Amino acid sequence: MVRLILDSAAGGYPVLIGSNLHRELRNVVTRLDPTGAAIVTDANVRPWAQRVAKAIKRAGLKTAIHVLPEGERSKSMAELERILTFLERQRIDRGGCVIAVGGGTVGDVAGLAAAMWQRGVRLVAVPTTLLAMVDSSIGGKTGVNGRRSKNAIGAFWQPSAVVSDLAAIETLPTASYRDAFAEVVKYAVAMDRGLFDLLQRNAPRLVDRDASMLERVVFRCVAAKALVVAKDERDRGPRAILNYGHTAGHALEAATGFRVSHGRAVAFGMRVSARIALAMDLCSKRLVEVQDELLDGFGLPDRPPSADPDRVLAAIALDKKARRGKVAWVMPRRIGHAEIGHAVPGALVRRVVTRSLA
Ligand SMILES: NC(=O)c1ccc[n+]([C@@H]2O[C@H](COP(=O)([O-])OP(=O)(O)OC[C@H]3O[C@@H](n4cnc5c(N)ncnc54)[C@H](O)[C@@H]3O)[C@@H](O)[C@H]2O)c1
Ligand SMILES: [Zn+2]
Repeated sequence: MVRLILDSAAGGYPVLIGSNLHRELRNVVTRLDPTGAAIVTDANVRPWAQRVAKAIKRAGLKTAIHVLPEGERSKSMAELERILTFLERQRIDRGGCVIAVGGGTVGDVAGLAAAMWQRGVRLVAVPTTLLAMVDSSIGGKTGVNGRRSKNAIGAFWQPSAVVSDLAAIETLPTASYRDAFAEVVKYAVAMDRGLFDLLQRNAPRLVDRDASMLERVVFRCVAAKALVVAKDERDRGPRAILNYGHTAGHALEAATGFRVSHGRAVAFGMRVSARIALAMDLCSKRLVEVQDELLDGFGLPDRPPSADPDRVLAAIALDKKARRGKVAWVMPRRIGHAEIGHAVPGALVRRVVTRSLA
C-alpha cells in the first residue's frame, strides 16, 4: 500500500492506494470520528458498498446505503435531491460524513450532496473505477449535469480521505478500464516522463490488471494531478494542463452525440494535439510516434472514430475553455512536459482533424 497526504485549503487529507484496504478504511473513518456515516453507491457497485458498510460497522458506527441507478443519468438534480433526503432521514448532522463508493458518477453527485448538506459535511471517497482513482476522486470538483450541459451545476469540495482499493478493479468492465488509460497517458505525456517510461515498459502487465503495477501507476497519476490542483484549486490557470487532449476530445464526444467514449475521445484528442504541435515545430516526430505506440498498446483506439470533421471542428470552436473566442490548446513539447495556452491557426486544426478522422 502507498499513502500520500494531499494539501487543500481546508487542510491535508490522506490518499491510500493498495489492495484489500478494508481495515485501513475503517481506521481512516475512525480517525475522522464522525457522528454518523451515510454511504452512497450505484446498483453495480452495491456489493462493494456493503463490504464498506461492514468494515465501518466494526468500528461501532451505524451506516445506511443509498443506491443510485447505474450510469451518467444519475448525475441529475433529481438524484441529488434523493441523496439529500436520504441524509436527512439518516439524521446526518454537521459532524457526520458521506462515503461515496463508486466511479466518477457516484463521486461527483455524492460529493455535491456532501458539499451542500448542512453547508458541507465531510466526504470520504472510495473510488471503484480506474478513472475515479486516477482522476475524478482527486481535485475536489463535484457536480451534476444540467438539462443540456455536462457538469454545469457543482461545487469545489475536497474530500477528507480517499481510499482506492485496487481489488475493486478486478470486476471493472474492459471498456471502462481501457478508457481510463487515456487519462493515465495524458498525465505521462503532459507531466511525468517517469510515468511514461513505466507505462512503456509495463503495458502488457497493466493490460492484465497487475495490482502491484497499478499501485505505482495510480500513485503517480494522483501525485501529478495533486501537484497542479495544489497550485490552482479553483481551476483558473495552471490546472488547464489537465486538459491535454481534451480540446479535440470533448469536440469529438459532442459531435458524435457521446457515442464515442470519453477515453477514446481523449486518446483521439492527444493524437490530434501532438500532430498539431509537430506541425508548429513545438515537438519532435518521435513524440508523436511513441505516444501513438503507447495508446495503441492500451487499445485506444484500435481504429479512427467515425465522425464528421465539420462537426468536430465546429465543436472545437465552441470549446468551453475558450476565452473571448480564442481556443487555448495544451501542446506537448517533450515527453513529460506540455504547455498551456497555445493559439493554433484554424487551417492547421482543420487539416489535422480531417486527416485524423480519415
Ligand atoms: N470530478 C472530476 O474531477 C471528474 C474528472 C473526470 C471525470 N469525472 C466524471 O466521472 C464520470 C465518469 O466516471 P467513471 O468512468 O468512473 O464512470 P461511472 O462511475 O459511471 O462508472 C462506469 C460504470 O462502471 C460501473 N462500476 C463502477 N465500479 C465498478 C467496479 N469496481 N466493478 C464493476 N463495475 C463498476 C458503474 O456502475 C458504471 O456502470 C463522468 O460523469 C465524468 O464527468 C469527474
Ligand atoms: Zn478526461
